Amino acid sequence: MTQNTFAKDFFYQQFQSQPEFVCHAPGRVNIIGDHTDYNNGFVLPAAINYGTTIAASARQDKQVEVYAYNCDSNKNIFSLDNIVFDKQTMWSNYVKGTLQALIKKHPDINGANLVVVGNVPQGAGLSSSASFEIAILKAFSQLYELDLNGISAALMGQQAENDFVGCNCGIMDQLISAMGLKNHAMLLDCRDLSFEEALIPEDLTLFIVNSNVKRGLVDSEYNLRRQQCEQVAEYFNVASLRDLSLEQLYSKKEQIDATLFKRAHHVITENSRALATLNALKNNDMATISAAMKKSHESLRDDFEVTTKEMDGLVDIIDEVIGVNGGVRMTGGGFGGCVVALVPSSMVPQVEEAVNNNYERLFSIKPSIYKCTASQGAFR
Ligand code: GLA
Repeated sequence: MTQNTFAKDFFYQQFQSQPEFVCHAPGRVNIIGDHTDYNNGFVLPAAINYGTTIAASARQDKQVEVYAYNCDSNKNIFSLDNIVFDKQTMWSNYVKGTLQALIKKHPDINGANLVVVGNVPQGAGLSSSASFEIAILKAFSQLYELDLNGISAALMGQQAENDFVGCNCGIMDQLISAMGLKNHAMLLDCRDLSFEEALIPEDLTLFIVNSNVKRGLVDSEYNLRRQQCEQVAEYFNVASLRDLSLEQLYSKKEQIDATLFKRAHHVITENSRALATLNALKNNDMATISAAMKKSHESLRDDFEVTTKEMDGLVDIIDEVIGVNGGVRMTGGGFGGCVVALVPSSMVPQVEEAVNNNYERLFSIKPSIYKCTASQGAFR
């Protein structure tokens, strides 16, 4: 059964009526450019064929009644007139935060009956929460025929995370979930939100492996990393690390705290790698992609210190098989979650075998493998 049909049936079970709309927003994988978005830098993500589906009907009052299939204590009811953070039902805060951002611009909307069904693994670095936020916004924009484009929706989703959930994330996840283009990766300039797309060659698979070490961005050191980056920008009196060159950074190497130096070093070099990877993708230059992804992983491991030994292990296992025929690195916020590989489709069985044979043997955790294609964003 498709997720769409499943959501309709689930809606019927909860509300004994058919939904007015069923909509979907994808999760994402970031091919390269991590921890650059909140530094006004460059990222190169793609939306994936895993996501969040919401079936929805409008209500005549301000109540929102929502059932989340994949979550514990899966029912939540609240009023748009009284949106408060809910410590007990964490997942509901994504709905509440997103709607709080939406009603600032569209105060006249009423509530809704909603069911939520998703297949993005949670806490894995594939943006289950961004896809949830964007799906909510898509549902409301259809129910109330709102004039809402993908960029505004992405900014609202980010606002929900920043101001309501408490994660100071950047714009990448929400923007690609809203604006991704099928079969393409998107080079997004997070300073002005302009983007450029590159076709992912048909014979390449977006091969994602979840280390199944769970990650929580709010609890993790994510916010600390962001603060450290901002501290360096402040030291150099620039708006963000995007405006700092490698030469400028090195010129003060002795004066800056060693940890802060490494954080900034990662961001500046990662921006160049994201740009180089876009061009390499356009030119089908796998050697360059491979080298950039390798360096990116090393930089996230050594300079930014957000990988885990399990993620490092997975990268090694995959790298050993693909070599310069593909690329592999951690993806997303880090501290657990997934690695992404660009793998020639003919090599996928070998890579799969290597992961299955070695990961659990080395780390006593079962991996999960997702063979993905780049999908269309919810507002595209
Ligand atoms: C998380 C955040 C993004 C981005 C990545 C790291 O996914 O939500 O905004 O910062 O981490 O690249």
